[in-house]
Amino acid sequence: MALTIGIPRESDAGETRVALIPNIAERMLKSVDGIEFLVEAGAGDTAFHSDADFEDAGCRIADREEVFGADLIAKVGPPSGEEIALMHEGQVVAGFLRPLDDPGLARSLAEKGVTSLAMELVPRISRAQKMDALSAMSSLGGYRATILAADRLPKFFPLLTTAAGTIRPANVLVLGAGVAGLQAIATAKRLGAKVFGYDIRDATREEIESLGAKFVELEIDVGDQEDEGGYARELEREKQERQPELLQPHIADADVVITTALIPGRPAPLLIREEAVEAMAPGSVIVDLAAPNGGNCAYTRTGETVVEHEVTILGPTNLPADMPVHASQLYAKTITSLIEEFVEDGTFTPDFDDEIFDGACLTHDGSVHNERVRDMLSQEA
Ligand code: NAI
Repeated sequence: MALTIGIPRESDAGETRVALIPNIAERMLKSVDGIEFLVEAGAGDTAFHSDADFEDAGCRIADREEVFGADLIAKVGPPSGEEIALMHEGQVVAGFLRPLDDPGLARSLAEKGVTSLAMELVPRISRAQKMDALSAMSSLGGYRATILAADRLPKFFPLLTTAAGTIRPANVLVLGAGVAGLQAIATAKRLGAKVFGYDIRDATREEIESLGAKFVELEIDVGDQEDEGGYARELEREKQERQPELLQPHIADADVVITTALIPGRPAPLLIREEAVEAMAPGSVIVDLAAPNGGNCAYTRTGETVVEHEVTILGPTNLPADMPVHASQLYAKTITSLIEEFVEDGTFTPDFDDEIFDGACLTHDGSVHNERVRDMLSQEA
């Protein structure tokens, strides 16, 4: 019997991505023995992949119950309560499961006896690069943030010399230069803006400069804020409090500020205070990618666009869903790479000696496997 892999139609409002695309399904069916894809009818519609495209690729179109009854379920967003109710003990589910933002979901999945793999927990090691869904999505998010800012800004981005006069390029400041921030910088450069980047990790200076942007230096000694996993450590409280004050003149000079500063599992640091927004020129734009975690700007409202002191502040929550074609393509590649790693001869075998499986595994055998999430749950109790 083949291992069945179910691909549901995503149920979250505003979600347009799908966890598998026909082209990747076709390749995987050729290279991995003993698997079958059950794709829920209409699952690919919002990403422009029809049921017929999936059928041509060798997938079977199925109804919701059958898809949620598969041996393994590959999703984009976390399963809803109604979807968990359709699942059964011994199943495997993989997707963005928001482990540090919603530990309660881990409890529900453990109670159901489901083995779950959170794409957010895949370790950032070289062997797992092709499974790094977060980075793939952040890259889309950073690109889209710059495009949104350019769309909202009542000015040009590039320098223009015209018969009617010279236009100075827009100043774009990017706060937080991880994956999303670097892509935002690269996109703003391509559009011709004068770009500035800031981060607390030493390593980012070179990366920001290699994209042709200027590194913003603040008068606080942050030392090396990078941890073993390549993520930032949180700043000490006193330094955290000085940051917005020192950033203020740089923010005031910017036509566009894109913020992406975050440390996983922590509330987003406040980098732009009300008075910094007030000091910006009317018509300026802020795109706050940290909006789902509270935002880097004091005025950010999650999922909304607000105007304060004539500055437009966008707080988008799911920019990759604005680009479902490429978002689904990249996501499908990462999630199928993760699954492929642990499937042999039609069987999915958990391997806790493998640091990728061990790292990504959220629940197994009725309990929460991830230590950090377990601690969060015990503190809640
Ligand atoms: P990342 O971990 O690669 O980058 C975050 C960066 O913020 C790191 O370089 C870190 O050093 C920096 N940082 C942390 N604290 C800071 C501080 N106090 N001051 C300055 N820099 C600081 O993360 P990635 O993948 O680039 O994602 C960034 C954010 O964008 C995350 O919050 C992610 O959820 C969000 N995102 C949001 C999207 C949306 O649609 N709203 C889409 C994609 C990503």
